Amino acid sequence: RYIDEISELKDKKVFIRVDFNVPLDEHQNITEDTRIRAVLPTINFALDAGAKVVLASHLGRPKGERKPKYSMAPAAKRLSRLLGKEVLLAPDCIGSEVRQMIDAMKSGDIIMLENVRFYEGEEKNDENFARELANGCEIYVNDAFAVSHRAHASVEAITKFFPVVAAGFLMKNEMNYFEKAMQKPIRPLVAILGGAKVSGKLEVLESLLNKVDKIIIGGGMAFTFLKALGYNVGKSLVEEDLIETARSTYAKAREKGIKFYLPVDCVAADRFNPEAETKVTTIQEIPEEWMALDIGPATVALFTEALQSAKTIIWNGPMGVFEMDAFSRGTFAMVTAVANSYALTIVGGGDTDSAVHRAGEYAKISYISTGGGAFLELLEGKKLPGIKVLEENGK
Ligand code: 3PG
Repeated sequence: RYIDEISELKDKKVFIRVDFNVPLDEHQNITEDTRIRAVLPTINFALDAGAKVVLASHLGRPKGERKPKYSMAPAAKRLSRLLGKEVLLAPDCIGSEVRQMIDAMKSGDIIMLENVRFYEGEEKNDENFARELANGCEIYVNDAFAVSHRAHASVEAITKFFPVVAAGFLMKNEMNYFEKAMQKPIRPLVAILGGAKVSGKLEVLESLLNKVDKIIIGGGMAFTFLKALGYNVGKSLVEEDLIETARSTYAKAREKGIKFYLPVDCVAADRFNPEAETKVTTIQEIPEEWMALDIGPATVALFTEALQSAKTIIWNGPMGVFEMDAFSRGTFAMVTAVANSYALTIVGGGDTDSAVHRAGEYAKISYISTGGGAFLELLEGKKLPGIKVLEENGK
């Protein structure tokens, strides 16, 4: 059930779990606030309905310790600016002082609790901590899609302590788009996978083999596949222990009639460095001592062509080391190709959404997931604990 199906929010203390785990620079400035903007519809809905809104989130991995650099203060401040309304930051996420603050709230007030990961109980999914965290609130809403793959106290155990639990609008959007792409896709369905390593994507690959019509592979992970197919890829990243797996994945895809695209050229460099000497070469001609750090122009043309017929595209992982300008063109060119396609386009997983934002093409992508690990786990075909518990307790 979703927040708009709850009959009475007025004057109720509504605990909303959000994921404000946003990137900060060395001065604690937020460099990217998509995750905060993404939950505004849910927060506004609750405030407009006259609820007393209590927000909880984690930020970073403080590992049960109270560390100032992981304070929710910058997020609370940014939210306050986006809402045009004061957002009080509680000094903690549990305890009597916080409880008093919550009890003193009026309809339409909003407060942000301090980082829930300042307590070990959060990651341990500890029930006692969860009970304290509920802070006497009456309704629980989870709109923290990006942390729904973690069975943590504020995501899972806490639901036991509420008579009413629901999901927020971000969660609804994420699940709707994911279902459109992966459960009832309009075909052809094309998956684009990138990123450094095959090892992090084995289960994703396995699951995609049962669903997609085409797989396009770029990024470092392509080179384990190319090595498996007999190419000499110089000093490019290859996971030797996964060559056999890559070979059998490729064979399985062929057996199933899935079109499997790998790079045909690359931007090679003499070292892993933004100042490295570089050249575009075919995969057959990567110099022995050089490494491929981006896909080349012929590959961009090939991949773009392969996307032409697509009706649904799902993309995770960059095509090269796009943080370095010299190796960013392939990823940005693919952003353009995906953005200009007529397909339903869904992009997710940490690095990929930052590439899309940097390329300035985000408006043309049908949906950019706020999830990193959570998006990948959905792609793996897993049920996320945070979503499962809402389905079971959607009372
Ligand atoms: C994310 O950024 O993917 C989520 O906020 C989860 O963070 P975590 O990987 O530290 O659990």
